[in-house]
Amino acid sequence: MSKNIKLVIGSTRQNRVGKSIASWIEDKLANNSTITLETIDLKEENLPIMDSPIPPAYAAVDTEAAKAWSRKIRTADGFIFLTPEYNRSIPASLKNALDYLVTEWKDKPAIIVSYGYIDGGKNATSHLQDVLDWLKVRHGKVSVAIKLQQDMFNEAGAFVDIDLSLSNYSEDLMEALKQLTADKEPELSVAIH
Ligand SMILES: Cc1cc2nc3c(=O)[nH]c(=O)nc-3n(C[C@H](O)[C@H](O)[C@H](O)COP(=O)(O)O)c2cc1C
Repeated sequence: MSKNIKLVIGSTRQNRVGKSIASWIEDKLANNSTITLETIDLKEENLPIMDSPIPPAYAAVDTEAAKAWSRKIRTADGFIFLTPEYNRSIPASLKNALDYLVTEWKDKPAIIVSYGYIDGGKNATSHLQDVLDWLKVRHGKVSVAIKLQQDMFNEAGAFVDIDLSLSNYSEDLMEALKQLTADKEPELSVAIH
């Protein structure tokens, strides 16, 4: 039976390239019989900044937005976290979405796909790994780091040819995806080009 994998787009700003990279991932997985992919766009989720009076570790956040977010995450078998690097870390939108929930993340497998101009966003990956460790997400340190370059983009900030720009990362992505269907955690695997 195929696994329900949620692809979480971590960036929410206007003109983000995260949306294009998410589409590229969707294309790569379109014919994958082991994974049923559902994209969660945090821009569409539009979660308010978490303001629960009680930490979510002690009591579920009691707002309609939090309950809907919980239902969405609870049904996932695993995650692909797609994150840019913002000031050496993950965007606030992604951290906020993670902070809302606790048990919904626990024991589920995940991989991280980061992107950025410096080392493919590996500082963001490292910060996200710490957060996921704390939430007991089984990421197994499996990640793909996409190194952006100015000449990949046109004047409007869109990829000129995303398939060409990201062609080096297809294999890394497919290898990383094994983490989401494997029964146990694989060895450390970080790919940076
Ligand atoms: C607030 C902000 C901070 C950034 N900081 C970094 C950084 O620390 N390292 C890096 O490699 N790129 C950094 N960048 C460049 C982003 O990685 C790049 O703009 C990327 O496209 C952002 O993802 P997005 O388009 O999906 O928002 C930063 C961009 C923004 C908007």
